[in-house]
Amino acid sequence: MQLKNDLLLRAARGEKTERTPVWLMRQAGRILPQYVAVRERVSGFIELATTPELAAEVTIQPVDLLGVDAAIIFSDILVIPEAMGLPYEMVEKRGPHFPRTVRSPEDIDRLKVADAETDLGYVLEAIRLVKRDLGGRVPLIGFAGAPFTIFCYMIEGGGSKTFSKAKKMLYTEPALSHRLLQKITDSTAGYLNAQASAGADLLQVFDSWAGILSPDQYRTFSLPYLRQLCQAVKREAPATPVTVFAKGAFFARAEMGALPCEVIGLDWNVDIAESKTLIGPDKTLQGNLDPCALYASFDQIRQQTRQMLRAFGPHRHIANLGHGVYPDTDPEKVKCFVETVQEYAGWVD
Ligand code: CP3
Repeated sequence: MQLKNDLLLRAARGEKTERTPVWLMRQAGRILPQYVAVRERVSGFIELATTPELAAEVTIQPVDLLGVDAAIIFSDILVIPEAMGLPYEMVEKRGPHFPRTVRSPEDIDRLKVADAETDLGYVLEAIRLVKRDLGGRVPLIGFAGAPFTIFCYMIEGGGSKTFSKAKKMLYTEPALSHRLLQKITDSTAGYLNAQASAGADLLQVFDSWAGILSPDQYRTFSLPYLRQLCQAVKREAPATPVTVFAKGAFFARAEMGALPCEVIGLDWNVDIAESKTLIGPDKTLQGNLDPCALYASFDQIRQQTRQMLRAFGPHRHIANLGHGVYPDTDPEKVKCFVETVQEYAGWVD
């Protein structure tokens, strides 16, 4: 189906757009009372994410309620470890927990390479429903975790400030680490392409824990696998743009610029002009307002959003926050951010 609003895709490909497109990471979720209402009808996050009709409903909510220029499929990066044989639980107010983790070479052998159609069919079905129900209003973003970030959760078993167990494996068992990273990559490549086949218009890869690695380690244990994912999409779904968002990877911006993808996500810690120089003119940049800026007054939000838009310039920019929106953000403040981008008319001066 022809998209009525394809600003996101044109900006991703580097085409000129009438205005800058805008969406928010984690827009489908607890910031919206309408999400909380749906969430209360089910046993928990996992039931919501694995019930295609409900996942589709909460995916579309931010399009209706916030007026964003893209939807992102309601799911989680942790569906990949689950599909490989490591189920997760989502503990209320605490986050993800894996009852079993990867500890030994045998644990890695026991993991399977996920088959998207059979193991993750519920996400693909949700994508098909969203595409049908959106009726071409805005593009739909599919996503997955970067192999290194998924590796962190599989070793650690949950969130962590340091991910020292995962990093210990990189230092003490590099060959084993690569074996696991490759298995995750093979699972994720198939999954991203299956999302594109099901209807996802753009694919984003989240490397949420990039910032815990040294530049050398990042080059060794993350970038090669990100490259493989981008190449796999280029091979099988060449029309689908890819965004790589590596949080905290300020040290790898030049290398990011060399990945075979269209868009690089930026967090709020980096200088925009410097990032443009390091990443180069062949990429669209996405980001990067501090999520906490949305706690400020409406006037300050408008001012900071305009400042961000001016720094990125009119082309090759997708407006977003520098990380996911925090759950206690006032939806009216989110709307203020979205509308400020959509109404910006400052390019003439
Ligand atoms: O962006 C969206 O609106 C789409 C949905 C989405 C979720 N998770 C739903 C979710 C996306 C894109 C993700 C990605 C994700 N999940 C990442 C990468 C992005 C990032 O934030 O760095 C990571 C690291 C995860 C793992 C994860 N899932 C954590 C650490 C947590 C707990 C902390 C938290 O934010 O709640 C989750 C839970 C989760 N994923 C929720 C939602 C809506 C909240 C669970 C609930 O409603 O009970």
